[in-house]
Amino acid sequence: MRADYRPIRIGLLGAGSVGSQVFKLIQNDSEELAHRVGAKLEISGVLVRSLDADRDYDIPKSFLTTDAESVILGSDIVVELIGGIQPALDYIRTALESGSDVVTANKTLLANHGPEIFELAERVGAQVYYEASVAGAIPIIRPLRESLAGDKVTRIMGIVNGTTNFILDQMESTGASFEDSLQKAQQLGYAEADPTADVGGFDAAAKAAILSSLAFHTEVHIDDVYTEGIEKITQLDIESAKEADYTVKLLAVCERVGKDSIAARVHPTLIPVSHPLASVRGAFNAVFVESEASGELMFYGAGAGGIETASAVLGDVVMASKRHLGGGSGLNESSHAKLEIMPIDDIVTRYQISLEVKDQSGVLAVIASMFADLDISVETLEQSTIDSDSDNVMLTIITHETSERSLQKLIEKLNSQDQVVDIRGQIRVEGV
Ligand SMILES: NC(=O)c1ccc[n+]([C@@H]2O[C@H](COP(=O)([O-])OP(=O)(O)OC[C@H]3O[C@@H](n4cnc5c(N)ncnc54)[C@H](OP(=O)(O)O)[C@@H]3O)[C@@H](O)[C@H]2O)c1
Repeated sequence: MRADYRPIRIGLLGAGSVGSQVFKLIQNDSEELAHRVGAKLEISGVLVRSLDADRDYDIPKSFLTTDAESVILGSDIVVELIGGIQPALDYIRTALESGSDVVTANKTLLANHGPEIFELAERVGAQVYYEASVAGAIPIIRPLRESLAGDKVTRIMGIVNGTTNFILDQMESTGASFEDSLQKAQQLGYAEADPTADVGGFDAAAKAAILSSLAFHTEVHIDDVYTEGIEKITQLDIESAKEADYTVKLLAVCERVGKDSIAARVHPTLIPVSHPLASVRGAFNAVFVESEASGELMFYGAGAGGIETASAVLGDVVMASKRHLGGGSGLNESSHAKLEIMPIDDIVTRYQISLEVKDQSGVLAVIASMFADLDISVETLEQSTIDSDSDNVMLTIITHETSERSLQKLIEKLNSQDQVVDIRGQIRVEGV
């Protein structure tokens, strides 16, 4: 450590689950961090909403303030851990304009306002670090931004929301319903009292927007991400998947389509049990990356949690601190490729469709002709009984690749067919 370097002032905005753990790590490991960085890290202030709130780690009152400006303008590096859009956006703007580098874990903000934040950072010669914004403790932003900077990423499939992975895993391993599994997730602290952002797929969509922007050098807004949650997943979906050697996961899929287009989507997905993502259980996260030269890579670990996420934040703080001492331009976000973002209707994938149909002769031929009319070929078809009293049977069909547009036409046709009693499920299939 150089004795002539003055301490680097770190301003913490937010001291909740993540912020209080970042504070703890910086205080407890200060000597080790000073050696790694080359100068001491000193917390200049901690912005909170309420000075008296209970915290996971007891931060001395002398650090706490409700005066945002004093923390931002009195720091060399600003760490935003408030969450949400405002006032986080204004605080980051002020920090960048005053010459500070920024570290943030805020996926909502980046998925909605990433381009303007990165454009401002580039204009003022600052850097924005955001490793913790996707998949918590798992290093995925830096690998995409730096390690794979010379490669061409073709596809990313991620389990990037621990709450939904826990719920689906619970449904599969215990046979519980969606509602009971959600309740269990809430009891264990994996799901919020209002679980909409997680079970509706919106949290994963924000992460898909960030990953796509980075991997494909194209601005992708959260509204560009087709989003479906897991609320409609039933035991029937899980059981039919199991019988066909698949498992159901909520996946964020970010992919190149042809030469000039990309697509980003979040939805429940069937993946073969042999796929590496199928072994991701409980509340864990994993990101599976395919690129032209490196082939297949998988990043796995804790996708949330105060201390786990603080690890990723601190990695960014160390990088920002080294840049503060040594200078250098760092890597700015690039959106030079400007690839077209395809609408969901144009996406081509496979589907599993579960149909309750009348148990009558000729039904299979009618259904088969509907698939044939739309040029949708069937890979597997399983027939099973519903229960001994029922006059109906279940057909579980897995298709070969077809477009979303054709699939929706097929669903319309099936709905208007008398022998089809109910369409009990339709789930996309990936990773085959
Ligand atoms: N928790 C995780 O596992 C996790 C994982 C990955 C990423 N993240 C991201 O990390 C960020 C922080 O998450 P968190 O779970 O630590 O949040 P949190 O527990 O809700 O903490 C938020 C903190 O920000 C402060 N705050 C909120 N609004 C404020 C305002 N208007 N002015 C001043 N202070 C304000 C709160 O003050 P008080 O303490 O006074 O209420 C609190 O200290 C979010 O962007 C989140 O998406 C979290």
